[in-house]
Amino acid sequence: MSGTDGALSHGGPARVNSDVALARAVVDRCRRLAACSEEPGATTRTFLSPPMREVHALVTDWMRQAHMDVTVDAAGNLRGVYAGDRAGSPHLYIGSHLDTVPHAGAFDGILGVMLGVAVVERLEGRRLPFAIEVVGFSEEEGVRFGTPFIGSRALAGTLDADLLDRVDAGGVSIREAIRVYGLDADRIDDARATHGALGFLEIHIEQGPVLDQSNLPLAVVETIVGQTRLDVTFEGAANHAGTTPMAGRRDALTGAAEWVVAVEREARNLAGLVATTGVIRALPGATNVIAASCRCSLDVRHASDAQRHAAVDRFTAAARAIASARSLTAHWALALDQPAVAMDGALIERLDRAVAEVGVPSRHMASGAGHDAMVMASCMPAAMLFVRSPGGISHHPDEAVEIDDVAVAIGVSGALLDDLSRQP
Ligand code: GLV
Ligand code: MN
Ligand code: MN
Repeated sequence: MSGTDGALSHGGPARVNSDVALARAVVDRCRRLAACSEEPGATTRTFLSPPMREVHALVTDWMRQAHMDVTVDAAGNLRGVYAGDRAGSPHLYIGSHLDTVPHAGAFDGILGVMLGVAVVERLEGRRLPFAIEVVGFSEEEGVRFGTPFIGSRALAGTLDADLLDRVDAGGVSIREAIRVYGLDADRIDDARATHGALGFLEIHIEQGPVLDQSNLPLAVVETIVGQTRLDVTFEGAANHAGTTPMAGRRDALTGAAEWVVAVEREARNLAGLVATTGVIRALPGATNVIAASCRCSLDVRHASDAQRHAAVDRFTAAARAIASARSLTAHWALALDQPAVAMDGALIERLDRAVAEVGVPSRHMASGAGHDAMVMASCMPAAMLFVRSPGGISHHPDEAVEIDDVAVAIGVSGALLDDLSRQP
């Protein structure tokens, strides 16, 4: 066990061995779900795409074997409830997302759902003074519709009805995607987390190098940085690539390219600021036609919301200036303005106690990635545990976890349940 050999104390060696066995099952399940994909040979699973049905079927089986009642809500979230020791018990929500980025790894999001199921299995039928509701959120990455957190926003009751009309690259709206999956978007209000909630716990890979470099198995998250997502479009004029002289062209793609590089330069000038264009679509999209329009995504993050907003203002001003110098126009639409969110202080203290009880070293850290926990924090106390990402690799097929780190996360979650049972 890297960095934590012999350190586990909670429940003794037998418990540790069974946590390692559970961890192996968790990792096997994550790898099995990674095969449910829109593309052969890669893991790509966007909001309510056909492979999500396979995922729902497999996870439903595992949840039922763990004595959970399973439903899919109107936003496509898979929800397994392990009842408490009395009717009407409050719910402790545990979960993460089941969708992925294109060509993803096996653990981003999925690990947190499989760990939720494992934590219930670890109880071996013991009932607690609260129910455990494991949620596999339908959408967190924002890949298909350019805006993230569709699943957790439905639970938090913050999913705008207008958002349901947003369309994907094929012109299919969120509402229609929900209908095609066999669900009813008019019932999204029923997805709200209404059971007196104890809180939400999300266990997630760190997706960065900090824990690996510090040789630590896990961390307790203090805050999640905010993010802005914009759709920025440059408009010019299409013309013949062979006959139109270079001078006087109104090429939307070269305007966009200049702006993307300007954004990168600007982002490098402020510590902690990250800005990314991950999608570019030029139209009409032919080798021999000058682009009439070019639409770019922009993702901007900083721990300070004020700094993030100021940076976004500088980026849009640059788009306007570059467009004007090239006789183009530029316009943009806000796809997300998600403030930074602090995790719940009392749950952080409980997680710290659970980590101490298990006897592993850990640390506190901020998350640069967005997570469902930042949305759930708007309706209940929320907390996150990060598990080391070997090599700091994520959003990549080489994403990995160490079995022993996953076992530690299971032990810490078990200790948290004990703590909450003693004093809900
Ligand atoms: C989710 O992976 C994010 O974009 O931070
Ligand atoms: Mn992700
Ligand atoms: Mn994730």
